[in-house]
Amino acid sequence: MKPSWFTFFMLVAASLLNAQTDPISGQSPSDGASAKLEETKALLACGQMVADQLVALKIPDTRGLRFQGKVSEATALCQGGAQALQFRGTPWVDWGNYWGTGDMSSLPTGFISKKLPAQRGVAGALEDLELQRIELIKFNLFDNTGTFSEYVQCHNGVGGPSIKVWPEMRLQPSNPNYNAVGGDGDQVCKGDLIRWRTVTGTCNDILNPAMGSSGMLFARNVEFETAFPDLGLDQLTRNRHGNRLSLLEPDPQVISRRLLTRIQSSPDKCQAGYGLPNDSKDANCDYQKAPFFNVLAAYWIQFMTHDWFSHLDEGHNAPEYMKVGCATKLVNNVEVPLTPEDIAKLGCRPDDRMDKSYVAQDTPPGTFESGGHTYLARAPKTMANTNTAWWDASQLYGFDDTSRQRVKRDPADMAKLLLVPVAGEQVPGYLPVFGPNDPINPEWTGQEAAGFPDNWTVGLSFLHNLFAREHNSFVAEFRRVAAQTPNADCGLRDPAHPKKVIRYKDVTPDELFEIARLVVAAEIAKIHTTEWTPQLLYNEPLYLGMNGNWNGLLGENGGLLSKALSDIVVRNFGRSKDVAKTTTWYSVFASGPGIFGLGSKVPGYDITNPKYTNGGVNHFGSPFNFPEEFVSVYRLHPLVPDLLEYRDLKADPNKIVKRIPVVETFQGKATPFMQTMGIGNWGLTLGRQRLGLLTLHNSPMFLQNLKLSRLDSPTQQIDVVALDIIRDREHGVPRFNEFRRQYGLRQMTSFDDFMDPGATPGSPAQLEEQEAVRTLRELYGQHVCDASKVITDAQVNEDGSPINDCLGHPDGTLIDNIEDVDTAVGYLAEYRRPHGFAISETQFVVFILNASRRLFSDRFFTSCFRPEFYTTLGINWVNHNGPGPVVMEKGAPNGHVQPVSPLKRILLRNIPELASELEPVINAFDPWARDRGQYYSLAWKPRPGAESDDSFANQ
Ligand code: HEM
Repeated sequence: MKPSWFTFFMLVAASLLNAQTDPISGQSPSDGASAKLEETKALLACGQMVADQLVALKIPDTRGLRFQGKVSEATALCQGGAQALQFRGTPWVDWGNYWGTGDMSSLPTGFISKKLPAQRGVAGALEDLELQRIELIKFNLFDNTGTFSEYVQCHNGVGGPSIKVWPEMRLQPSNPNYNAVGGDGDQVCKGDLIRWRTVTGTCNDILNPAMGSSGMLFARNVEFETAFPDLGLDQLTRNRHGNRLSLLEPDPQVISRRLLTRIQSSPDKCQAGYGLPNDSKDANCDYQKAPFFNVLAAYWIQFMTHDWFSHLDEGHNAPEYMKVGCATKLVNNVEVPLTPEDIAKLGCRPDDRMDKSYVAQDTPPGTFESGGHTYLARAPKTMANTNTAWWDASQLYGFDDTSRQRVKRDPADMAKLLLVPVAGEQVPGYLPVFGPNDPINPEWTGQEAAGFPDNWTVGLSFLHNLFAREHNSFVAEFRRVAAQTPNADCGLRDPAHPKKVIRYKDVTPDELFEIARLVVAAEIAKIHTTEWTPQLLYNEPLYLGMNGNWNGLLGENGGLLSKALSDIVVRNFGRSKDVAKTTTWYSVFASGPGIFGLGSKVPGYDITNPKYTNGGVNHFGSPFNFPEEFVSVYRLHPLVPDLLEYRDLKADPNKIVKRIPVVETFQGKATPFMQTMGIGNWGLTLGRQRLGLLTLHNSPMFLQNLKLSRLDSPTQQIDVVALDIIRDREHGVPRFNEFRRQYGLRQMTSFDDFMDPGATPGSPAQLEEQEAVRTLRELYGQHVCDASKVITDAQVNEDGSPINDCLGHPDGTLIDNIEDVDTAVGYLAEYRRPHGFAISETQFVVFILNASRRLFSDRFFTSCFRPEFYTTLGINWVNHNGPGPVVMEKGAPNGHVQPVSPLKRILLRNIPELASELEPVINAFDPWARDRGQYYSLAWKPRPGAESDDSFANQ
């Protein structure tokens, strides 16, 4: 209980109550008075909220009682007033309706103070988000490698979530470093194996050498029993889906064409994504655009996924081929074959075939008993992540011996990546093209050299070239400092000679190459955390939250975030600042300056002692790898437009010169586009154009018709949009409603729930949503429900009863097959989102958990973020966003005094011709010609100087 806050709210409320009553006339209050009344009610509710929170901020013992992002009436009223109350009955999280969490319109009008309600709203949102994150860590970690039974039970008296070393994470005898880490004895990485990020990702965790390395199994975030619903392995699953699911039912190509295709106003100008001859600017492919996010951001996230995970091996799947739909449709809830007319109308292809996804294990998973409950020991099938799971820039530097051979170093300075000049532009040049002896697939011929070359287009070429240049910029600066002060201590240490000072001149080219890799990987992680994500989720709570993730939660400048977190963590886990006791959650979240640098400031740090080098990581009892569900929510193909609006820096940047189909830049075709048009023009092009909204009817046409020469099929074409659905089914991702329940979000009870409850009745937006709901109903169907069938154990009804097939509807009624909706369809159908969210709340909840974990688990972002590994120059480069001191941005965008963003600095450094274009840019992922307006505005308005930009003419 906090009497001081309580008394404060009551006193202010009482004074407002007096102020708004007219004692003489007793007349109804004016507008101003009604605002005061709302303010008073909110303040009175705040008093109640303080009492409510004693209960509400408790982390529940069982998953059935999770928070679901829904708060008490008093809390909603205190933090968001009447607006927040209005949407409490919907499935969507409440915090998006709090004061201050949107644009200017989210601030109250007529109140005595706008600042205090906004602060309450934002602080409340942060508290809700932290509560969700801690619950996610507690309830959603399921490792497939064999550690799960110990996690549930305990090991030698240590509680599952506190276990830190697992035999499953040992290197196998076939690994070349098996003996170096200790062979069949205790395995501990040492020496050169701990100094850098190894190619295959081994030895990031010193005591668990195999964790996160290439080839380890994908994890899960959902109970194993709910994975692979198509197999109908248990009674709950059979009750949930009847007998309705299979790999190709409902038909994925039919879903793709009916629900996900971009609707074209002039199909002849789009040509199914292939545009017009000569890249004519008269081409047009309509797509729904996000006003606050640019195409560079779309390619950025593809660039990231190529670092984090891959199901494919060198661009291929398993040898067997499968059908991919365009075969049936649902008529009166029965699947019937498509007629030739249906096929022609839909434009799908029955003869497409695709190689099946690899499966690592499909033998029965085995079970164990604990607390009277029988658990599966792993998912019914598992898949391997062929990439390193670490945020180690492996898309640039490789993830195994084969991919490393694709990475070209500069023979003139082996610390650098090779960049070659092209005609017209001398330095710094471009990545070399693959040669005849490079280990590549034939379809990658002609592409620029990269560790991860798959699904390459000009956007990936841009980012790979940019970061290769950044690598070399760091090396050049290191060499400059080394020339000036060759005998100075560079900060680096060798665990073999820990006391020996390493001078700048002692650093070998190989060492400098690996240091530059560490720096580039950390810059990428920083850009993603503090620049890409706050623009993806463009509102104040997420700005604060993401900066907290990077700079420190309870550390300096923690502010509102610090309060939110301490309220929850201290109440549930107590307070301990001892980083060594990382089983105490408080220390995990709070010690040191934050996640970044966590444990790196420990006194007496000893590079030879894992207590220090490994002491800052925390895996919460479950070895780190991405879960299948994470891959699913990163199927973000709608972000990509069909046509790129090409611009020329030397002409008028406001003019679109050509419309270049993305597909015309596919694979090796990207190289001439990059090299003849120049990286500066591509920066301008990708920076100015808006990306596609993640919503229904917005998937690229070219991806529905992608030609893949490697395919052994009659069409050699594939509908990637349909494939997104098929792959999730192959990987056993639970369908949308159970997916939400598993992640602690509120379930839907009919397709109508997808509609935005705030949409204006009869508006075009609402009509479109109604149409989408009708199509969902046609595609997924309905059934007569049976209330005797329990369908889940992930949550219970509000009255504590089990959730059954009728989802609250009367027994025996015809209800929507909402349980069957594919997750990748469901998250695109979420029309209600918090302000500035380019993704849905379902996708977001997956990010909350896994984005935190990939920082928490990586010692190079925690206890090894130190000069001994990065050099002093490297640490400062990451912290200051480049050489020299921090450079501050002008003014206070959205009220924050902040450094010039890391990506803007990298662009300025490595593509200087963009200087004038970038001058007004605050966040490199916000369309460069947009006026950011006031406080988190999403308006599509030109900034001064860009009034004649073509993209504002026809919006
Ligand atoms: C720009 C052009 C793009 C092309 C040509 C492309 C193509 C493809 C193809 C063909 C696949 C299927 C692989 C398979 O399962 O056999 C795929 C998978 C995938 N794509 Fe894209 N994609 C593009 C952009 C993006 C973007 C912007 C994202 C955003 C994150 C993305 C995320 C993914 C993911 C997560 C997968 C699943 C990968 C896996 O299972 O390992 N793609 N893409």
